Amino acid sequence: MPLEERFSCWKVVEEDYPAEASLTERLRFLIRYAILAPSSHNTEPWLYRIHDDQIDLFYDESRWLKVADSDQRELHISVGCALENLLIAAEHFGLEHQVSFLPGNDEPSLCANVTFREQEKRAPYRPDELFSMIPVRHTNHGQCEDREIPGDLLQQLQDTCVEDSLMLHLTADDEIKQKVDELVVRGDAIEFSDPAFREELAQWVGQGVFGTGWLMSKIAKLAVCYIDMGNTQAKKDSEVLMSSPILGLISSKTDDRMSQLQVGQVYERLSLLAALHGIWCQPMSQIVQVPELKSELATLIPQQGLTPQHPFRIGYAPAEKHHTPRRPFKEVLV
Ligand SMILES: Cc1cc2nc3c(=O)[nH]c(=O)nc-3n(C[C@H](O)[C@H](O)[C@H](O)COP(=O)(O)O)c2cc1C
Repeated sequence: MPLEERFSCWKVVEEDYPAEASLTERLRFLIRYAILAPSSHNTEPWLYRIHDDQIDLFYDESRWLKVADSDQRELHISVGCALENLLIAAEHFGLEHQVSFLPGNDEPSLCANVTFREQEKRAPYRPDELFSMIPVRHTNHGQCEDREIPGDLLQQLQDTCVEDSLMLHLTADDEIKQKVDELVVRGDAIEFSDPAFREELAQWVGQGVFGTGWLMSKIAKLAVCYIDMGNTQAKKDSEVLMSSPILGLISSKTDDRMSQLQVGQVYERLSLLAALHGIWCQPMSQIVQVPELKSELATLIPQQGLTPQHPFRIGYAPAEKHHTPRRPFKEVLV
């Protein structure tokens, strides 16, 4: 598929919603919003099966990052992000939904089953403005502006976490920022010194998942595979982290799949609300991908006994110039 076509998904417009068509056809349209969700390394590790009034959402094991995400935490968080987009889009188009998490013993990759019904019902933590941000949101890799996030907006971002099993911490504490920075630098050094990590990343970079053209992707693949860029990456990550007014962390009370799916939902909700205000997010997964750093991160959380799931930074910044591509729509349908 030509590269430019892999970006066309971002031009989805609600006027194309087939309001008069069957529910099954309309559910198909909703998936166009789900696939715009963020995912680790832009692997898009999800599959959708539509039947009657339901969508089954699976993880796609062939797109799991076996090295970087050995415990499948990010695989489930990514699917959770897609699930949240699906629910936001459903509510926007007047469909009520009922989610059953991890319903299938005989289908281990089945993360959620969602049943839809013609009924206007909106969750208070999914205001309709989030919908318009789905094709706008992106991960930001640049420096933040020297601008604080106002307290009332910070509170709104905080309120996106309604799940009982999760805790969202947003902090502007400089001491914590310094400690997290240290973890990020160590995480980059550890990961990039591992040839298996570099090879896995190189495979994805070589496929152009971050939007580079054919030649650039092949050059970047070779560079990632054969050069230890740990120091360069650490310097860049440290600069952008220290420029960020707020660091965020979503943790869970229990370290299970359902919590991880919900982490994805909260992160996506928060990212969309942030985007509405010109604030962008970037996850910092190296800290939770290395077990010893994840344990150290846990000690920075005020409450004891929580499992860190998804650390990220947020702040005002110029929007990125380009979106990342997505795979052809047909590929994600079972
Ligand atoms: C679970 C998860 C982990 C991620 N980890 C990182 C990360 O460590 N560093 C980073 O720059 N982006 C990270 N991302 C962002 C993805 O790279 C990004 O979502 C993907 O490339 C698609 O781009 P988009 O978010 O701009 O649509 C992560 C995203 C998810 C969902």
